[in-house]
Amino acid sequence: MSRARRLLFSGGSVVEADGVSRADVLVEGETITAVGTLADIADAEQIDARGMLVLPGAVDVHTHLDTPFMGTVTSDDHITGSIAALAGGTTTYVDFAFQQPGERLPETLEAWHTKARNRSVADYSFHLAIADPYDGFLDDLPIVVADGSPSIKVFMAYKGLAMLDDGQLYDVLRASSRLGANVCIHAENGHLIDALGREVVATGRTGPLGHLLTRPPMTEVEAVRRAIAIADLADAPVYFVHLSTGGAAQALAEAQERGRPISGETCTHYLLLGDDEYHRPGFEAAKYVVSPPLRGVDDRAAMWRALRAGTIGVVSSDHCPFCFAGQKELGHDDFRKIPNGAPGVEHRLPLLYGHGVRAKRLELSEMVRVACTEPAKAFGLHPRKGTLRPGSDADVVVLDPDGSTVVMASTQHQRSDYTPFERWSVPGRIRGVWRRGEHVVDRGRFIGGAGGGTFVPRRPVT
Ligand code: URP
Ligand code: ZN
Ligand code: ZN
Repeated sequence: MSRARRLLFSGGSVVEADGVSRADVLVEGETITAVGTLADIADAEQIDARGMLVLPGAVDVHTHLDTPFMGTVTSDDHITGSIAALAGGTTTYVDFAFQQPGERLPETLEAWHTKARNRSVADYSFHLAIADPYDGFLDDLPIVVADGSPSIKVFMAYKGLAMLDDGQLYDVLRASSRLGANVCIHAENGHLIDALGREVVATGRTGPLGHLLTRPPMTEVEAVRRAIAIADLADAPVYFVHLSTGGAAQALAEAQERGRPISGETCTHYLLLGDDEYHRPGFEAAKYVVSPPLRGVDDRAAMWRALRAGTIGVVSSDHCPFCFAGQKELGHDDFRKIPNGAPGVEHRLPLLYGHGVRAKRLELSEMVRVACTEPAKAFGLHPRKGTLRPGSDADVVVLDPDGSTVVMASTQHQRSDYTPFERWSVPGRIRGVWRRGEHVVDRGRFIGGAGGGTFVPRRPVT
């Protein structure tokens, strides 16, 4: 029997969530087999990582690929979205299988397997997003868990599209916690947003600034506190997606202080972009219509603090890409019809390094914790993913701290005609990405073959 191909990343600074060390990383086939001082490994192809940072492949637990939403479909499918992910150092993503009206939950999951199978070039897994709770939908949850997708997203916003009421939220929490599935909550008060929307439009204000005006911070904070109270009653854990406010971080801190299993994520855009974007002239601000909206400087600072403290454990991209032309434009006459979301999977890790670590907002190991290790732990992918340990998948990113990147729509892999970070100059440059031992990105260029990503089934973690 022939021996598995060997690769040796030698002499780099290996960054893990618990520290940085000068070490070599040996890969045999698809797996890391040793980390340490490993001179003279016979037959190993050497990758000279001197002067480089060697990171675990990043894990993005919040993407929306090929997803029908708000009257259109997200502009990246599992081919283009996964190439963009790899180009940005993300070797594993967890996509939201988004239930369509009239669909049973197992059908939704099957549809997502079909979208991704033999198409994705990165490894992937699924959450199940409930948008249409039909009679008996809870009885189908065990099938979702058995599929290897033990995490459910529910919405407290998007009234008339996906919003559940408090009773339904309680039911999902009870049923999920019995099954060991994690519930991911989109916490915004949909009733208030709806009422504010009617009020603002009645004054004749229909442009994108209305998105900000109708989703003030309290609409998130109230929903987070209500969801925590309902989770207490249901005795269930909760993972809050895309948190944007200091008030929400405070609510999580209080619940954690009480010993409750309450966790959450924020996103790259809530850390780095501000609500001043909604004052751009004309319809340009539609590019920044994401939910919750971008916030002010104090909330941004609170997000960085919550990450460092560990109150918020994860940074995701909430990659929900649309094109400005033809898609964002659907809301030209009414901001409530602008598809919510923006591209981001490609730039999450580079921005966290360039504008997090290099701007002294995060330590290197904290970056790996929030972008790689903790997302993998939160959703049952660790230690296969999110770490550089013997036995882990050989998902490896080599980052050159002396390089730099300029983010531009014209050069990105994400299939969108814009990026919210247009012309941002980002210190650091990804030199190479390996997915389970295969070299798939070289200096920004995807060099892998078609398909090649694999579904990673997850076990319940709670
Ligand atoms: O604006 C956002 N977040 N779009 C994606 C859908 C969601 O709520 O995550
Ligand atoms: Zn959401
Ligand atoms: Zn999302």
